Amino acid sequence: MKPVKVGVLGLGTVGGGTVNVLKRNAEEISRRAGREILVTRASARNLDQQRICDTTGIELTTDSFEIINDPEIDIILELIGGDSYAKDLVFKAIENGKHVVTANKALIALHGNEVFTRASEKGVMVAFEAAVAGGIPIIKAIREGLSGNQIEWLAGIINGTGNFILTEMRDKDRDFDDVLAEAQALGYAEADPTFDVEGIDAGHKLTILASIAFGIPLQFEKVFTEGITKITRSDVEYAEQLGYRIKHLGIARKTTKGIELRVHPTLIPERRLIANVDGVMNAVLVKGDAVGPSLYYGAGAGAEPTASAVVADVIDVVRALTSDPENRVPHLAFQANAMSDIPVLPAEQVETAYYLHLTAQDKPGVLAEITRILADHQISIEAMIQKEPINDETSVPVIMLTQKTLEKEMNAAISEIENLQPITGQVTRIRVETLG
Ligand code: HSE
Repeated sequence: MKPVKVGVLGLGTVGGGTVNVLKRNAEEISRRAGREILVTRASARNLDQQRICDTTGIELTTDSFEIINDPEIDIILELIGGDSYAKDLVFKAIENGKHVVTANKALIALHGNEVFTRASEKGVMVAFEAAVAGGIPIIKAIREGLSGNQIEWLAGIINGTGNFILTEMRDKDRDFDDVLAEAQALGYAEADPTFDVEGIDAGHKLTILASIAFGIPLQFEKVFTEGITKITRSDVEYAEQLGYRIKHLGIARKTTKGIELRVHPTLIPERRLIANVDGVMNAVLVKGDAVGPSLYYGAGAGAEPTASAVVADVIDVVRALTSDPENRVPHLAFQANAMSDIPVLPAEQVETAYYLHLTAQDKPGVLAEITRILADHQISIEAMIQKEPINDETSVPVIMLTQKTLEKEMNAAISEIENLQPITGQVTRIRVETLG
């Protein structure tokens, strides 16, 4: 049978890694796919740049549209990223009847509904395993492996850069910016690293996971996102004293009122396996009604781990080339005409427990005032630490763990506490999840 011809758009970290894996494992890949898979063309912004891959035998161009318009190319690998130019490329590829494999989480989270509608109209596949959690086959696991379950919730460490920063801060007392610079040099961070540290990248990935878990349209604009930039070394230490680790989690949960979609730093019990996922590694914990909890762990970023997911998608596409488009696995796990309109809950309606860290003047009655405000909002305290003043300081840190409450009640309580005269500065609040 004729080899399948692939055009690679973008020869950066992921594109370079993908070319390497496709070449190195060509024989085993063709035994799995049933056809030889050849990268015949590739595009890059600068053809003279040094690359991590050998491009011998690949026709290079700076014009990605040339490849998309080449009738010889069967599958386009969109490995450029971003949601604007990449969208034009993918729409054109679909229009030209080409199958697409992409690692682009922003594209899928922001424009996926339209991408999949156009792809279905044209009878082509758009595969995106590499868009979430790098090398972990989490899309396939939820979409196919767990398809007999009702998914109740999932929680994941789905940004390697953020996890790397939190881990290095905790273990080595390193400076935030210094660790971020290392993550950039290693090719883990996004082109704009605020996407990593402010939870936007994780929000894109959570949008995709929630859609395939619950059969809802992609709705990135409804994800609550809070980054890790305000996490201090002292919060990491207090959390540990209370038996918790701080992780930046993406959480999607189905409740009777709607779906919670949120990305934020989270205290999780240190005995949970996911609390011990460190460095650039990712992990996703999924709770299905039949299977119970299951945990998926692996490298969430980097050239070859991400290439592993891209190449698996290419093989899937090749295997399904001759199948009837109606009988393929639906892009978003559920049949397009059977999506649910269950609402995504606004942040104020989310219910969680909280870690609070405040600085109070060391004088009688301050704690009583704080606990009165919490009681007025029906917020129950679970644990508390108050440190004695160091030397001649007049303020002391007060740390509290609360039981579950509505975010709305906590917002109101925090603003009242911050208005108390003996309270200095802002109250730090970190949500707590037991993931039990
Ligand atoms: N910037 C992302 C991360 C890359 O650090 O996880 C993988 O999506």
